Amino acid sequence: MHLCRHFLLRLIRSIALLAIFSTAAHAAEKRDLIIDTDPGADDVVALLLALASPEELHIRAITTVAGNVRIDKTSRNARLAREWAAREEVPVYAGAGRPLVRPPIYAENIHGKEGLPGVDVHEPKKGLADGNAVQYLIDTLSKAEPHSITIAMLGPQTNLALALIQAPEITQGIKEVVVMGGAHFNGGNITPVAEFNLYADPDAAKVVLASGVKLTYVPLDVTHKVLTSDQRIQRIEGLNNHAGKLVSSILNEYVKADMVHYGLPGGPVHDASVIAWLLKPELFSGRLINVAIDSREGPGFGQTVADWYDTLGQPKNVFWIENGDAQGFFDLLTQRLARLK
Ligand code: RIB
Ligand code: CA
Repeated sequence: MHLCRHFLLRLIRSIALLAIFSTAAHAAEKRDLIIDTDPGADDVVALLLALASPEELHIRAITTVAGNVRIDKTSRNARLAREWAAREEVPVYAGAGRPLVRPPIYAENIHGKEGLPGVDVHEPKKGLADGNAVQYLIDTLSKAEPHSITIAMLGPQTNLALALIQAPEITQGIKEVVVMGGAHFNGGNITPVAEFNLYADPDAAKVVLASGVKLTYVPLDVTHKVLTSDQRIQRIEGLNNHAGKLVSSILNEYVKADMVHYGLPGGPVHDASVIAWLLKPELFSGRLINVAIDSREGPGFGQTVADWYDTLGQPKNVFWIENGDAQGFFDLLTQRLARLK
């Protein structure tokens, strides 16, 4: 009897130690990350959140694409975010200036002529890295350790699509792609059914979907549940640092259009939810489902057809995030912005 109790206690102790070490290992493992982005107000908030989280995220590079505004301005704004976060060791590569097929569209009505509402912009000290973002993706992903690099996709998916078309073998280096994009339950924000990033380049999104990489979508279904409020923005402003002043000024301006259009009490910070998912996935919930993308001209152009109830029984190719803890998100964002100057 005594022997049995002894072994049982030893077993419980080793299970407890195993749990502690595996949690620590998970928490300790840094994620190699490339952020592909079209800054853009919410992109800049996402970049600051990511750049303020070096313990969890090893940001290999920022790659820029045309989307909210033209490529020269999205690239300048990415360099600005890097400068504001005092992380100028992170290279910024400029990428595609237009979508794969469709004529370019922009969102200056939402993000302003400079792509950054509510704040003054300037030419950052540090320039772009040499070379194009698409070639950087090809060179980096083809040489990377197997399935080691995560891509946070915050704008139209043109750069990655071009890299996949030229060098399909680069999937070997991709751990997963986390996309801000798409809409199902929420409805669209650029048409009744389409979300801007997908609408801006649905052909690119189809190339990425067809590549078979591990895909998570952070659609309007969840970003429209993670909304600002006066109190949440004032808390960021109350950090009394430059980052807090920048983000509160940007958000105060950026959310106005959505609040009016949707009659919401606050506005979404779309792209920052992608970074929050990488930092604290427990804040979100979703389901592995089949997603198809409509790139036919017509009312469904750019729509993500999300088979949430598995009606068609098709292969489940996307983890679709549908809910999020809004207060937990803003707690995380505020706590990380407090780290910046
Ligand atoms: O629909 C919202 C998305 O489109 C965000 O990524 C925003 O920055 C724009 O790119
Ligand atoms: Ca964006």
